[in-house]
Amino acid sequence: MATLSVTQDDITTLSVDVIVNAANSSLLGGGGVDGAIHRAAGPALLAECRTLEGCATGEAKLTKGYNLPARYVIHTVGPIWADHREETAERLLFNCYFNSLNLCLKNHLEVIAFSNISTGVYGFPKQRAAEIALKAVEVFEEEQGGIKEIIFCCFDIENKNIYEALLANRT
Ligand code: APR
Repeated sequence: MATLSVTQDDITTLSVDVIVNAANSSLLGGGGVDGAIHRAAGPALLAECRTLEGCATGEAKLTKGYNLPARYVIHTVGPIWADHREETAERLLFNCYFNSLNLCLKNHLEVIAFSNISTGVYGFPKQRAAEIALKAVEVFEEEQGGIKEIIFCCFDIENKNIYEALLANRT
């Protein structure tokens, strides 16, 4: 069973096996956490991203971390809340977390830190997003497990408080 934890940090500072970027489908960078990760990783990250030919919403792709303290970056593309029916957006966000965990396991990585996918520019409600993230972790653990530590890296206090309350209420 993976150890779950919450931190309020800049994800680009975390020295873990892999951090999860909230990217867009081009994988060519952007603002928010995507911009921060590309700035910290350096231009070699963009060069590798260019070889990946984009990423569909809900999918996840792995690159090296370059100048980041993290060894790798998983780029996943969250749903834009306003672009989908509620249940579709929720399924796509679930897929972001589930596919990122699968990619982490497939690459034998043990410690993964997630940013709060889709809860910034993409407008996904924070409480619901956190519940979906934890549901994806629960299903992943039931079906296969194998990851040592899962960190929810929140940039803002609202997300941190949401995750802390949800983790405190887990059985
Ligand atoms: N470390 C950790 N979390 C961060 C950081 C950081 N350095 N910077 C921002 N965040 C948080 C935001 O506060 C938010 O909670 O990441 C979460 C995701 O917000 P966005 O980065 O806006 O990502 P998202 O809502 O998924 O929108 C993705 O924004 O930056 C563009 O290229 C990206 O087009 C894509 C879109």
